[in-house]
Amino acid sequence: MRTRTREPQTLGSEGTLDRMARILAARNIDPATVAALAEEHEPFSLLDLLSAGMPPRYQGAVADHPTVLAWARDVAEAAVAPSVGARRQVTTGPSLLMAGVVGAGKTYQAYGAVRHLVQSGLGVRWRATTAADLYAELRPRPGTDSERELAAVARCPLLILDDLGAAKASDWTEEITYRLINRRYTHMLPTLITTNLRISDLRAYLGDRVASRLVEMTTRVEFEPVDRRRHRTAA
Ligand SMILES: Nc1ncnc2c1ncn2[C@@H]1O[C@H](COP(=O)(O)OP(=O)(O)O)[C@@H](O)[C@H]1O
Ligand SMILES: [Mg+2]
Repeated sequence: MRTRTREPQTLGSEGTLDRMARILAARNIDPATVAALAEEHEPFSLLDLLSAGMPPRYQGAVADHPTVLAWARDVAEAAVAPSVGARRQVTTGPSLLMAGVVGAGKTYQAYGAVRHLVQSGLGVRWRATTAADLYAELRPRPGTDSERELAAVARCPLLILDDLGAAKASDWTEEITYRLINRRYTHMLPTLITTNLRISDLRAYLGDRVASRLVEMTTRVEFEPVDRRRHRTAA
């Protein structure tokens, strides 16, 4: 009787690396960059980076804003292991409100901050959405359970809520924002919020209930009014 043997598929074997190279290429990620990152930050596997689910544009984002780094440190310090010997997980922590003009680098810092936490070896369950996408996804329509989706976003341990204040406001968006922020405020879940609005204009857009909670739960950062996208094309 013949027995078929299969090459064991370990991370170091040719097959796996080839497959990984294909996945990286499909996602527009330069494998050389990934390998350099992996070497730079031990212990850190390529699989970690892939599973972190970063969008290609911000895959290499490195948080370097002092307030953002301080936030990441606070969140890392608050992380707890669910059981003895288990990897520490992001649980509760402070939030950050990053305000600045389009192209100032807010989304970059937000993803950079998540990457920083992942690289420091913490277990990070996170999600990212723009406020506009979230409202679109939550619009009641047949076949979707909007309440369930809102609950999932609201209780995700770490959330990037991008471009708050960019979508057209209505009583309905105000209510959704209130329920989301109130949930995260109550459970003290770390949230990275970006906005194009000036902090002083946020209250008018978001309403008092949300604005007052944001004041208490976030550290606020105003970015330099420089559009990095425009600078890049001009250079
Ligand atoms: N510190 C940085 N170093 C290198 N590129 C950056 C940095 N900050 C932002 N960028 C790049 O500048 C562009 C605009 O940044 P982004 O974070 O999308 O701006 P915003 O979210 O404020 O509109 C993006 O292409 C981003 O990758
Ligand atoms: Mg952005």
